[in-house]
Amino acid sequence: MTTTTALTLGPIEHRLEGIVPDVERAVLEPIIEEIERLKADRNAVVLAHNYMTPDIFHGVADLRGDSLQLARMANETSAEVIVMAGVHFMAETAKITNPDKTVLIPDLRAGCSLAESITGADVRLLKERYPDVPVVTYVNTSAEVKAESDICCTSSNAVQVVESLGTDRVIFLPDQYLGRWVASQTDIDVILWEGSCEVHERFTADELRSYRATHPGIQIIAHPECPPDVLAEADFVGSTSGMISYVKTEIPRQVVMVTECSMSDNVAVEAPRTEFVRPCNLCPHMKRITLEGIRDALETMEHEVVVDADVAVRARRAVDRMLRVTAPAGVK
Ligand code: 13P
Ligand code: SF4
Repeated sequence: MTTTTALTLGPIEHRLEGIVPDVERAVLEPIIEEIERLKADRNAVVLAHNYMTPDIFHGVADLRGDSLQLARMANETSAEVIVMAGVHFMAETAKITNPDKTVLIPDLRAGCSLAESITGADVRLLKERYPDVPVVTYVNTSAEVKAESDICCTSSNAVQVVESLGTDRVIFLPDQYLGRWVASQTDIDVILWEGSCEVHERFTADELRSYRATHPGIQIIAHPECPPDVLAEADFVGSTSGMISYVKTEIPRQVVMVTECSMSDNVAVEAPRTEFVRPCNLCPHMKRITLEGIRDALETMEHEVVVDADVAVRARRAVDRMLRVTAPAGVK
């Protein structure tokens, strides 16, 4: 297995230079200093999702990425403590695959509307209704739901996972829009659940058409949790990391990232030749994670993520199967 390389964060006084106003830096840098001290004391790393605010993303994240990358990084780090700067299902996924590590989430209220849309009992009922149809579950779900599933997927590998099963039908849970996106990319029949992301479902096709009208030549790149008519307006559809790679490789003159607000703030730092047009839909769950919260989590070692052992073993099968299906070349 490859070994995860933590980011080189550089001297604290330069990390947020040009990223946040100087008056804010004066407040944030002492907190970053405390976090660094605590990370060293606890043998801890901070894993940060792409939706974290720039002070976290550029200030203290040792490893950062989309849901799939975070799941892999959690497996590969040798640190004893993982602080998940992301939402609860991401911390739970890290714990499921690393039962011997301590996984902390700075705020237990950092949930997800998709994870809340379905329970393990719902999945059991679906399996009764569609026996022999495999269940593909988006990682944005609880461990209990993963435990009832045949395989997990993320937004970056959903089509590949669905096609890996060799069946002509799958049950796809719980995001109806990601499910519809997958269905549009494959001949496999997809049975959907009516979950949705409260952030991405707010974008409209009209809104995107008006960006095209007011910004000729603008590139529209969207997350597959958006409704189908929104995705139909996009030049590119991909996971949060897929969207970041698109901007870095295509270097569009102007771009609108149809996803959570902080993405543009974070990517703009590394893409100075691109102008970002920024609609702002915030994820209230992601925004519960703050720099102060990360410091407090490391100080108090709270909140530790705990998953029932039996549920964790069953959920791990579904997560590991996904990781095997989409392993980079040479990784088993
Ligand atoms: P990604 O896996 O694309 O980062 O998506 C996670 C998520 O919650 C998007 O809303
Ligand atoms: Fe869940 Fe949507 Fe927030 Fe992502 S953006 S964590 S899918 S509510």
